[in-house]
Amino acid sequence: MDDRFIGRVAVITGGAGGIGEATVRGLHAEGASVVIADIQDAPGQSLAAELGDRAVFLRTDVSQESDVAAAVDAAVTRFGQLDIMFNNAGVMGTLGPIETTSIDDADLTIAINLRSVISGMKHAARVMKPRRSGIILSTSSPAGMLGGVGPHVYSATKAAVIGISNSVAAELRPFNIRVNTVVPGAVVSPMTASLVADGPDHLEQALQTMSGTSLMGRPLLPADVAAAALYLASDAAAFVTGVTLPVDAGMTGAIGQSPFATGKYEQSVTVFEAGRRT
Ligand SMILES: NC(=O)c1ccc[n+]([C@@H]2O[C@H](COP(=O)([O-])OP(=O)(O)OC[C@H]3O[C@@H](n4cnc5c(N)ncnc54)[C@H](O)[C@@H]3O)[C@@H](O)[C@H]2O)c1
Repeated sequence: MDDRFIGRVAVITGGAGGIGEATVRGLHAEGASVVIADIQDAPGQSLAAELGDRAVFLRTDVSQESDVAAAVDAAVTRFGQLDIMFNNAGVMGTLGPIETTSIDDADLTIAINLRSVISGMKHAARVMKPRRSGIILSTSSPAGMLGGVGPHVYSATKAAVIGISNSVAAELRPFNIRVNTVVPGAVVSPMTASLVADGPDHLEQALQTMSGTSLMGRPLLPADVAAAALYLASDAAAFVTGVTLPVDAGMTGAIGQSPFATGKYEQSVTVFEAGRRT
């Protein structure tokens, strides 16, 4: 076991399932104490019980600032400090054409996906600034960077997560607090299982379905995203702030299918002016 996080304390919102759970497990395995902040009581409590020492579950509705503040305070009262705040909880929220979008549902989606991140950054900064130390991570999505890959309001919230992360990164840099964003591609998790399988508990079915559409030969798993979050949270990323890190098999940065990977070009050529080849 690596020991990168011995003595560190983390709050992970959405920590009872999917990417959040994988990050809870990863941080805890490497020595951190973790506050699992989630709206789902049963899986949150059972994960905390399984991990034992250095793990507590706190029922947290991230759309409520007071709940997020309480999760941060729980880290300080139970474990003495807060080193890592992972604003990860999120929902797909309202789906469908823009002209039939319910504005009330849009407000709720914004509250869960964006207000939550603002609250998380605010209360993390409250306890991190005096210590002049900390890491704030948040989860965005390719939908926040590209059109047509997610629901409208979800996409808007995920773009805003990148915006506020970069803005807050600039404010908190002098306090030795790093602020970064992870951008998972399509991950096999309860969220995607609710879309591609028979429901959030049908992870095996989701895994099979997503194996067929994977960009990299195997489906992206929560642990792959957690590994990137752990890197950003670690001392190895000491000068990494204001960064948006896609963990998406190039879904955002390498969007095309390369003709050089298809066998169309059997050997390299060089093309100069007027299409003249060597
Ligand atoms: N799964 C993907 O393909 C994917 C891709 C890009 C981004 N993301 C983002 O990653 C994050 C985690 O997604 P996931 O795939 O692990 O989803 P998930 O549904 O498996 O897990 C999300 C967790 O957040 C919790 N949660 C939901 N509403 C909450 C609230 N109001 N308060 C507190 N907790 C709440 C859920 O109970 C759940 O445990 C989300 O922000 C999501 O938008 C996911």
